[in-house]
Amino acid sequence: MLDTQYSKMTKRKTILSGIQPSGKLHIGNYFGAMRQHIRMQEEGDAFYFLANYHSLTSVNSGKLLKGYTMDVVLDYLALGLDPDKCTFFAQSDVPQTTELAWILGCLTPVSLMEKGVSYKDKVANGLNPNIGLFTYPILQAADILIYHSHLVPVGEDQKQNIEIARDLAGKLNRAYGKELLIIPEEYIVKNVAIVPGVDGRKMSKSYDNTINIFDEGKTLKKRVMSIQTDSTPLEDPKDPDSCNVFSLIKLFADVDSKEEIMQKYKAGGYGYGHAKKELLGLIDDYFGEAREKRKELEKNPGYVHDVLSEGAKKARERAESVMEPIREATGLYRSFKYE
Ligand code: ADP
Ligand code: TRP
Repeated sequence: MLDTQYSKMTKRKTILSGIQPSGKLHIGNYFGAMRQHIRMQEEGDAFYFLANYHSLTSVNSGKLLKGYTMDVVLDYLALGLDPDKCTFFAQSDVPQTTELAWILGCLTPVSLMEKGVSYKDKVANGLNPNIGLFTYPILQAADILIYHSHLVPVGEDQKQNIEIARDLAGKLNRAYGKELLIIPEEYIVKNVAIVPGVDGRKMSKSYDNTINIFDEGKTLKKRVMSIQTDSTPLEDPKDPDSCNVFSLIKLFADVDSKEEIMQKYKAGGYGYGHAKKELLGLIDDYFGEAREKRKELEKNPGYVHDVLSEGAKKARERAESVMEPIREATGLYRSFKYE
């Protein structure tokens, strides 16, 4: 199996994942992806990046994209991503990614993209059907393959994109008769149900049904109080398993409190209003420390810039070491060397 110098030296797996800065991050993103990323920085040679080229498929305002990008960086750092333990950077700081995406695109049958479920979903939900959105999985494949990643921790909804990355790595290797790219493994984050939004559908920035990780005070209260519930009267017993509020409580509460709240639901005399207050307290406790850390980081843009700049340097170095043999094999002329 082809391996990078680094992973050969350390026998550590390269872990890679990205998140689009295309809106404020919500608790679905946290439990479905970010928490896992933060945990896994301990377990391998982790690369995490802001997929800002991908955001261009849906965000067409420079001001907004810059704002969202900064928000995501601050969110991750506040929640515990440690730039000393992982490589944290912006996709746009690694031009080798788009270079590889073009080469992979030239090996991708249109029919493969036509099978993309995520494209169809997004268009059905009102996103502009542009070519960037259509070929999104090719850029995602390049993101993964350019670092010789072994493991890609993502939510269930990303399964097909990882399959496409594996497929395209194989196509490039076969086309040039060399193992130029590593075939990555998906690492689907298990045991995380789809987090429901305040309307009961999947929580998503596209549905305006989110509770954002860094909402607090009145904003948070308003969101939590707006969670839809059925109209079972306060005094009647209630079914926790079919309640949106309880689905969220389960994410935040420890085993004992979960059990206690479940008994209150079943006993009756406990209203959805009570459950919402309980949830509010749990969210405040859970994210309290991160909120304070985020406020500190906000005051220090120089530090945040340095983190991304250091991360980008390491990422470019790795990407270039993968890209150079590909240029050679494909016969692409280059009159200069990067850095
Ligand atoms: P959104 O639907 O808000 O646009 P993204 O598609 O950008 O979210 O998802 C980013 C990551 O967060 C993905 O890995 C996805 O699996 C995870 N994720 C998003 N929404 C949820 C949810 N409601 N429940 C669990 N995981 C989620
Ligand atoms: N498509 C991913 C999402 O919407 C974001 C992403 C872009 C990504 N490139 C990636 C995730 C590479 C993992 C690996 O969440």
